[in-house]
Amino acid sequence: MPKFERLMSQITIDGLTIPNRIVFPAIHTGYTEPDGRISPKMKHFHSELARGGVGLSIVGFTAVSAQGKFCPETPCLDDDRVVEGLAEVFRAIHDHGSVAAVQIAYAGRQNRTGLEGMPIVAPSPIPCPDLKIVPRALSVDEIEAIENQFAEATARVRDAGVDMVQIHGAHGYLIHQFLSPLSNQRTDIYGGSLENRMLFLLNIVRKSRQRVGPDFPLSCRINGQDYQEGGLTLDDARQIARALAKEGIQFLDVSGGVRGAERVRDEAMATGDFRRLARSVREAAGVPVSCVGMITDLRTAEEILQENTSDMIAIGRALIADPRLIKKSLRGEFDAINPCNKCNTCYYWISGQPHLTCPVYGEW
Ligand SMILES: Cc1cc2nc3c(=O)[nH]c(=O)nc-3n(C[C@H](O)[C@H](O)[C@H](O)COP(=O)(O)O)c2cc1C
Repeated sequence: MPKFERLMSQITIDGLTIPNRIVFPAIHTGYTEPDGRISPKMKHFHSELARGGVGLSIVGFTAVSAQGKFCPETPCLDDDRVVEGLAEVFRAIHDHGSVAAVQIAYAGRQNRTGLEGMPIVAPSPIPCPDLKIVPRALSVDEIEAIENQFAEATARVRDAGVDMVQIHGAHGYLIHQFLSPLSNQRTDIYGGSLENRMLFLLNIVRKSRQRVGPDFPLSCRINGQDYQEGGLTLDDARQIARALAKEGIQFLDVSGGVRGAERVRDEAMATGDFRRLARSVREAAGVPVSCVGMITDLRTAEEILQENTSDMIAIGRALIADPRLIKKSLRGEFDAINPCNKCNTCYYWISGQPHLTCPVYGEW
């Protein structure tokens, strides 16, 4: 019987004990009702993942305000009914002995709700390569207001019972738009040097920390590299990671890639290049990290931990295809796993489905 000694060992991050090293990463599901409330499907989804043995389950992209939504189905934390619905999701995760996190985010120029008349904002009036809508540059007052919204959202989900908040600084969304010189050409304190471009993220961390106090686990997702010419490099990511660690961030989820560079990103995942990023960021920041990117086999996950590349392993699509993957692997029943076929139907806003669905698993 396979042992998975490190993978199944617990880890304590920022005072929070997680029963094993497997993370279900932030995955936007679209499991909301037309009026914005959380649908029972989201509770079922995270409950099944926790029942399947995930140590940490992260609720995907959750906007800090309506203007920060990424698509019409995005849950929005300025709505009490949404926070109440999320509280039930967190409880469902806890009921199966797992730890609950939520990713808080702001879409900025990657906002697909523009069609609904919501203003599209960004650090600079530079359009997102695929949406091609010229965003309005945020004023300093507006930037400060968004920083405050992140802090307020952190407090709201903390009060709703979540164990950890993940601030989304990756994948070309607003925080990343500030970090990248390709989308941030401001000439004030929020633009120019990497130090200035980091200010928005660091202010969000500081204000959130101030709002919830020293004992609540805060983490960040960052890109280890953008895989885009002129975008963030691994060296930038290492500097960002160090600055975050200095601000007390004790857990970094290292991802990579941006819109318009999907092919390179997918190749990097397939060749395991994200592991190089995780290892390097971990070494630079000196805090635990998680590694992600088409890790579909727990034997590979164990190897990554054994070689000290990462402290946790995120498994997304493979668990959507088979939420029993962990249990089956622990029993050595690898042939019984229903593998993800990498069709990406789960990216429902691209594949044209009403919400996340998976041809391998079926309707969740
Ligand atoms: C349907 C879908 C939705 C996603 N939503 C988010 C999200 O809300 N926030 C985020 O940071 N990443 C998101 N991602 C990226 C995943 O967190 C993860 O990094 C990616 O799927 C690679 O891991 P995997 O190969 O194990 O699936 C999403 C991915 C998929 C497939």
